[in-house]
Amino acid sequence: MADSRVRHLAKTITWRVVGTIDTMILAWVISGDITTGFKIGAAEVVTKMILYYFHERIWYKINFGLDRRKERKNRQERAEKVSENIIHQNFKIDSGKRQSLLRQKPLLIWFTGLSGSGKSTMANLLESELHATGYKTYILDGDNIRHGLCNDLAFTEEDRMENIRRIGEVSRLFLDSGVIVLSAFVSPFARDREQVRQLVGDENFVEVFVDCPLEVCEQRDVKGLYKKAREGKIKNFTGIDSPFEKPEKADIVLKTAEVDAKILLSNLLDYVEPKISVETNVEV
Ligand code: ADX
Repeated sequence: MADSRVRHLAKTITWRVVGTIDTMILAWVISGDITTGFKIGAAEVVTKMILYYFHERIWYKINFGLDRRKERKNRQERAEKVSENIIHQNFKIDSGKRQSLLRQKPLLIWFTGLSGSGKSTMANLLESELHATGYKTYILDGDNIRHGLCNDLAFTEEDRMENIRRIGEVSRLFLDSGVIVLSAFVSPFARDREQVRQLVGDENFVEVFVDCPLEVCEQRDVKGLYKKAREGKIKNFTGIDSPFEKPEKADIVLKTAEVDAKILLSNLLDYVEPKISVETNVEV
Protein backbone atom coordinates (compact mmCIF):
# COMPACT_ATOMS: atom_id res chain seq x y z
CA MET A 1 0.00 0.00 0.00
CA ALA A 2 1.35 3.46 -0.88
CA ASP A 3 1.80 6.21 1.71
CA SER A 4 -0.67 9.09 1.51
CA ARG A 5 0.29 12.77 1.72
CA VAL A 6 -1.01 12.97 5.33
CA ARG A 7 1.04 9.92 6.27
CA HIS A 8 4.14 11.51 4.77
CA LEU A 9 3.45 14.61 6.88
CA ALA A 10 2.91 12.53 10.05
CA LYS A 11 6.16 10.64 9.42
CA THR A 12 7.94 13.93 8.80
CA ILE A 13 6.86 15.36 12.16
CA THR A 14 7.43 12.28 14.35
CA TRP A 15 10.83 11.53 12.82
CA ARG A 16 11.86 15.15 13.27
CA VAL A 17 10.87 15.22 16.95
CA VAL A 18 12.97 12.11 17.61
CA GLY A 19 15.88 13.39 15.48
CA THR A 20 15.88 16.86 16.99
CA ILE A 21 15.86 15.65 20.59
CA ASP A 22 18.88 13.55 19.65
CA THR A 23 20.66 16.52 18.00
CA MET A 24 19.91 18.83 20.94
CA ILE A 25 21.33 16.39 23.46
CA LEU A 26 24.44 15.78 21.34
CA ALA A 27 24.98 19.53 20.76
CA TRP A 28 24.54 20.18 24.50
CA VAL A 29 26.95 17.37 25.46
CA ILE A 30 29.60 18.37 22.89
CA SER A 31 29.39 22.14 23.43
CA GLY A 32 28.70 21.91 27.16
CA ASP A 33 26.15 24.70 26.67
CA ILE A 34 22.41 23.96 26.82
CA THR A 35 21.47 27.18 24.93
CA THR A 36 23.61 26.15 21.96
CA GLY A 37 21.90 22.76 22.08
CA PHE A 38 18.48 24.43 21.89
CA LYS A 39 19.52 26.82 19.09
CA ILE A 40 20.92 24.04 16.88
CA GLY A 41 17.89 21.90 17.61
CA ALA A 42 15.46 24.71 16.73
CA ALA A 43 17.25 25.54 13.47
CA GLU A 44 17.40 21.89 12.52
CA VAL A 45 13.78 21.05 13.28
CA VAL A 46 12.52 23.57 10.72
CA THR A 47 14.98 22.97 7.87
CA LYS A 48 15.06 19.19 8.13
CA MET A 49 11.26 18.91 8.32
CA ILE A 50 10.93 20.75 5.02
CA LEU A 51 13.70 18.73 3.40
CA TYR A 52 12.36 15.40 4.66
CA TYR A 53 8.83 16.07 3.42
CA PHE A 54 9.97 16.90 -0.12
CA HIS A 55 12.42 14.00 -0.09
CA GLU A 56 9.53 11.63 0.72
CA ARG A 57 7.27 13.15 -1.94
CA ILE A 58 9.95 12.83 -4.61
CA TRP A 59 10.67 9.19 -3.77
CA TYR A 60 6.94 8.50 -3.81
CA LYS A 61 6.97 9.35 -7.51
CA ILE A 62 10.04 7.29 -8.38
CA ASN A 63 9.54 3.62 -9.25
CA PHE A 64 13.24 2.76 -8.96
CA GLY A 65 13.87 -0.20 -6.68
CA LEU A 66 10.23 -1.14 -6.14
CA ASP A 67 10.03 -4.90 -6.14
CA ARG A 68 7.01 -5.64 -8.34
CA ARG A 69 7.81 -9.35 -8.51
CA LYS A 70 7.33 -9.63 -4.76
CA GLU A 71 3.95 -7.93 -5.00
CA ARG A 72 2.94 -10.25 -7.84
CA LYS A 73 3.99 -13.28 -5.82
CA ASN A 74 2.09 -12.10 -2.74
CA ARG A 75 -1.04 -11.54 -4.79
CA GLN A 76 -0.73 -15.01 -6.30
CA GLU A 77 -0.18 -16.65 -2.92
CA ARG A 78 -3.17 -14.81 -1.44
CA ALA A 79 -5.37 -15.94 -4.32
CA GLU A 80 -4.24 -19.54 -3.95
CA LYS A 81 -4.94 -19.47 -0.21
CA VAL A 82 -8.45 -18.13 -0.70
CA SER A 83 -9.31 -20.69 -3.38
CA GLU A 84 -8.20 -23.58 -1.13
CA ASN A 85 -11.62 -23.54 0.58
CA ILE A 86 -13.74 -22.98 -2.48
CA ILE A 87 -15.03 -25.99 -4.35
CA HIS A 88 -15.81 -25.67 -8.04
CA GLN A 89 -19.45 -26.39 -8.95
CA ASN A 90 -20.49 -28.20 -12.11
CA PHE A 91 -23.75 -27.59 -13.92
CA LYS A 92 -25.75 -29.63 -16.41
CA ILE A 93 -25.47 -27.15 -19.24
CA ASP A 94 -21.81 -27.06 -20.13
CA SER A 95 -19.72 -25.19 -22.64
CA GLY A 96 -20.20 -27.86 -25.33
CA LYS A 97 -23.99 -27.66 -25.09
CA ARG A 98 -23.90 -23.89 -25.33
CA GLN A 99 -21.64 -24.09 -28.39
CA SER A 100 -24.03 -26.48 -30.11
CA LEU A 101 -26.92 -24.13 -29.46
CA LEU A 102 -25.04 -21.12 -30.79
CA ARG A 103 -23.49 -23.09 -33.70
CA GLN A 104 -20.12 -21.48 -33.26
CA LYS A 105 -16.83 -22.06 -31.54
CA PRO A 106 -15.84 -19.43 -29.01
CA LEU A 107 -12.56 -17.61 -29.50
CA LEU A 108 -10.71 -14.79 -27.79
CA ILE A 109 -9.29 -12.36 -30.34
CA TRP A 110 -6.85 -10.19 -28.42
CA PHE A 111 -5.89 -6.85 -29.98
CA THR A 112 -2.77 -5.31 -28.49
CA GLY A 113 -1.00 -2.09 -29.49
CA LEU A 114 -0.32 1.50 -28.58
CA SER A 115 -3.10 3.92 -27.74
CA GLY A 116 -4.42 5.23 -31.05
CA SER A 117 -2.97 2.36 -33.08
CA GLY A 118 -6.40 1.25 -34.29
CA LYS A 119 -7.26 -1.61 -31.94
CA SER A 120 -10.85 -0.53 -31.31
CA THR A 121 -11.35 0.40 -34.97
CA MET A 122 -10.20 -3.02 -36.20
CA ALA A 123 -12.16 -4.84 -33.48
CA ASN A 124 -15.22 -2.84 -34.47
CA LEU A 125 -14.84 -3.70 -38.16
CA LEU A 126 -14.29 -7.37 -37.43
CA GLU A 127 -17.22 -7.56 -35.03
CA SER A 128 -19.54 -5.93 -37.57
CA GLU A 129 -18.59 -8.54 -40.19
CA LEU A 130 -18.94 -11.45 -37.79
CA HIS A 131 -22.24 -10.14 -36.45
CA ALA A 132 -23.61 -9.73 -39.97
CA THR A 133 -22.67 -13.35 -40.68
CA GLY A 134 -24.63 -14.48 -37.63
CA TYR A 135 -21.91 -14.95 -35.03
CA LYS A 136 -22.55 -14.01 -31.41
CA THR A 137 -19.78 -11.65 -30.40
CA TYR A 138 -18.79 -9.20 -27.69
CA ILE A 139 -16.16 -6.45 -27.54
CA LEU A 140 -14.22 -5.74 -24.36
CA ASP A 141 -12.49 -2.40 -24.81
CA GLY A 142 -9.97 -0.73 -22.50
CA ASP A 143 -11.57 2.70 -22.55
CA ASN A 144 -15.01 1.28 -21.75
CA ILE A 145 -14.02 -1.32 -19.18
CA ARG A 146 -12.01 1.27 -17.29
CA HIS A 147 -15.26 3.16 -16.69
CA GLY A 148 -16.75 0.22 -14.79
CA LEU A 149 -15.15 -3.08 -13.83
CA CYS A 150 -11.65 -1.56 -13.74
CA ASN A 151 -12.43 2.01 -12.67
CA ASP A 152 -10.29 1.53 -9.56
CA LEU A 153 -7.15 0.92 -11.62
CA ALA A 154 -4.58 3.41 -12.88
CA PHE A 155 -1.69 2.87 -15.31
CA THR A 156 1.11 1.67 -13.07
CA GLU A 157 2.64 -1.67 -14.02
CA GLU A 158 0.77 -3.32 -11.14
CA ASP A 159 -2.60 -1.86 -12.09
CA ARG A 160 -2.20 -2.73 -15.75
CA MET A 161 -1.37 -6.27 -14.72
CA GLU A 162 -4.55 -6.42 -12.62
CA ASN A 163 -6.53 -4.86 -15.48
CA ILE A 164 -5.43 -7.56 -17.91
CA ARG A 165 -5.90 -10.30 -15.31
CA ARG A 166 -9.52 -9.25 -14.80
CA ILE A 167 -10.12 -9.03 -18.53
CA GLY A 168 -8.62 -12.49 -18.92
CA GLU A 169 -11.06 -13.85 -16.34
CA VAL A 170 -14.02 -12.04 -17.89
CA SER A 171 -13.00 -13.32 -21.33
CA ARG A 172 -12.84 -16.84 -19.96
CA LEU A 173 -16.43 -16.56 -18.73
CA PHE A 174 -17.55 -15.20 -22.09
CA LEU A 175 -15.78 -18.05 -23.89
CA ASP A 176 -17.46 -20.52 -21.58
CA SER A 177 -20.79 -18.97 -22.53
CA GLY A 178 -19.94 -19.67 -26.18
CA VAL A 179 -19.37 -16.09 -27.28
CA ILE A 180 -16.60 -14.84 -29.57
CA VAL A 181 -14.71 -12.16 -27.66
CA LEU A 182 -12.77 -9.29 -29.18
CA SER A 183 -10.58 -7.63 -26.56
CA ALA A 184 -8.92 -4.31 -27.35
CA PHE A 185 -6.40 -3.36 -24.67
CA VAL A 186 -3.01 -1.70 -24.86
CA SER A 187 -1.78 -4.65 -22.77
CA PRO A 188 1.86 -3.54 -23.06
CA PHE A 189 3.45 -6.35 -21.07
CA ALA A 190 4.20 -9.66 -22.77
CA ARG A 191 3.86 -11.71 -19.60
CA ASP A 192 0.33 -10.37 -18.94
CA ARG A 193 -0.78 -11.31 -22.46
CA GLU A 194 0.86 -14.69 -22.06
CA GLN A 195 -1.02 -15.24 -18.82
CA VAL A 196 -4.32 -14.64 -20.58
CA ARG A 197 -3.31 -17.08 -23.33
CA GLN A 198 -2.58 -19.72 -20.71
CA LEU A 199 -5.77 -18.96 -18.81
CA VAL A 200 -8.11 -19.46 -21.75
CA GLY A 201 -5.98 -22.06 -23.54
CA ASP A 202 -3.71 -21.59 -26.53
CA GLU A 203 -6.30 -23.01 -28.95
CA ASN A 204 -8.86 -20.38 -27.89
CA PHE A 205 -6.54 -17.38 -28.13
CA VAL A 206 -5.53 -15.30 -31.12
CA GLU A 207 -3.06 -12.49 -30.56
CA VAL A 208 -3.46 -9.60 -32.96
CA PHE A 209 -0.67 -7.04 -32.89
CA VAL A 210 -1.96 -3.71 -34.12
CA ASP A 211 1.41 -2.46 -35.25
CA CYS A 212 1.38 1.28 -35.76
CA PRO A 213 4.50 3.43 -35.22
CA LEU A 214 4.46 5.69 -32.20
CA GLU A 215 4.98 8.78 -34.41
CA VAL A 216 1.79 7.98 -36.33
CA CYS A 217 -0.25 7.35 -33.17
CA GLU A 218 1.09 10.57 -31.72
CA GLN A 219 0.30 12.50 -34.87
CA ARG A 220 -3.26 11.13 -34.90
CA ASP A 221 -3.68 11.80 -31.17
CA VAL A 222 -7.44 11.39 -31.45
CA LYS A 223 -7.99 11.75 -27.69
CA GLY A 224 -5.32 14.42 -27.17
CA LEU A 225 -3.59 12.14 -24.64
CA TYR A 226 -0.15 12.06 -26.28
CA LYS A 227 0.00 15.86 -26.08
CA LYS A 228 -0.88 15.71 -22.38
CA ALA A 229 1.69 12.96 -21.82
CA ARG A 230 4.42 15.00 -23.55
CA GLU A 231 3.50 17.96 -21.34
CA GLY A 232 3.88 15.71 -18.30
CA LYS A 233 0.18 15.97 -17.43
CA ILE A 234 -0.30 12.19 -17.75
CA LYS A 235 2.19 9.86 -16.16
CA ASN A 236 3.15 6.32 -17.29
CA PHE A 237 1.83 6.84 -20.78
CA THR A 238 2.59 3.87 -23.03
CA GLY A 239 5.19 4.75 -25.64
CA ILE A 240 6.18 7.96 -23.85
CA ASP A 241 7.29 7.13 -20.32
CA SER A 242 6.06 3.57 -20.05
CA PRO A 243 7.20 0.69 -22.27
CA PHE A 244 5.34 -1.35 -24.85
CA GLU A 245 6.67 -4.88 -25.27
CA LYS A 246 5.97 -5.84 -28.87
CA PRO A 247 4.58 -9.33 -29.32
CA GLU A 248 7.29 -11.51 -30.79
CA LYS A 249 5.05 -14.21 -32.18
CA ALA A 250 1.69 -12.58 -32.77
CA ASP A 251 -0.78 -14.70 -34.74
CA ILE A 252 -1.64 -11.71 -36.91
CA VAL A 253 0.10 -8.36 -37.39
CA LEU A 254 -1.98 -5.46 -38.64
CA LYS A 255 0.10 -2.59 -40.04
CA THR A 256 -2.64 0.01 -39.73
CA ALA A 257 -0.45 2.90 -40.87
CA GLU A 258 0.55 1.19 -44.11
CA VAL A 259 -2.24 -1.10 -45.24
CA ASP A 260 -5.84 -0.29 -46.03
CA ALA A 261 -8.30 -1.27 -43.28
CA LYS A 262 -10.40 -3.32 -45.73
CA ILE A 263 -7.43 -5.50 -46.60
CA LEU A 264 -6.51 -5.92 -42.95
CA LEU A 265 -10.08 -6.89 -42.16
CA SER A 266 -10.04 -9.49 -44.90
CA ASN A 267 -6.77 -10.93 -43.50
CA LEU A 268 -8.35 -11.08 -40.08
CA LEU A 269 -11.47 -12.81 -41.34
CA ASP A 270 -9.44 -15.38 -43.27
CA TYR A 271 -7.57 -16.26 -40.10
CA VAL A 272 -10.47 -16.18 -37.67
CA GLU A 273 -13.37 -17.76 -39.55
CA PRO A 274 -12.01 -21.34 -39.72
CA LYS A 275 -11.49 -21.19 -35.96
CA ILE A 276 -15.03 -20.14 -35.08
CA SER A 277 -17.05 -21.88 -37.74
CA VAL A 278 -18.48 -25.26 -36.71
CA GLU A 279 -18.79 -26.32 -40.35
CA THR A 280 -15.01 -26.72 -40.59
CA ASN A 281 -15.27 -29.58 -38.10
CA VAL A 282 -17.80 -31.56 -40.07
CA GLU A 283 -16.08 -34.30 -42.04
CA VAL A 284 -17.50 -34.74 -45.53
S1 ADX B 1 -3.73 -1.28 -20.38
O1 ADX B 1 -2.34 -0.85 -20.51
O2 ADX B 1 -4.10 -1.52 -18.99
O3 ADX B 1 -4.03 -2.43 -21.25
P1 ADX B 1 -6.11 -0.07 -21.39
O4 ADX B 1 -6.20 -0.65 -22.75
O5 ADX B 1 -6.99 -0.66 -20.34
O6 ADX B 1 -4.57 -0.05 -20.93
O7 ADX B 1 -6.45 1.49 -21.45
C1 ADX B 1 -5.80 2.26 -22.40
C2 ADX B 1 -6.59 3.50 -22.75
O8 ADX B 1 -6.63 4.40 -21.67
C3 ADX B 1 -5.88 4.20 -23.90
O9 ADX B 1 -6.54 3.93 -25.11
C4 ADX B 1 -5.97 5.64 -23.55
O10 ADX B 1 -7.12 6.18 -24.17
C5 ADX B 1 -6.24 5.70 -22.07
N1 ADX B 1 -5.07 6.07 -21.23
C6 ADX B 1 -5.12 6.97 -20.24
N2 ADX B 1 -3.93 7.04 -19.61
C7 ADX B 1 -3.10 6.16 -20.23
C8 ADX B 1 -1.74 5.77 -20.03
N3 ADX B 1 -1.01 6.30 -19.05
N4 ADX B 1 -1.21 4.83 -20.84
C9 ADX B 1 -1.95 4.28 -21.82
N5 ADX B 1 -3.25 4.61 -22.06
C10 ADX B 1 -3.82 5.53 -21.27
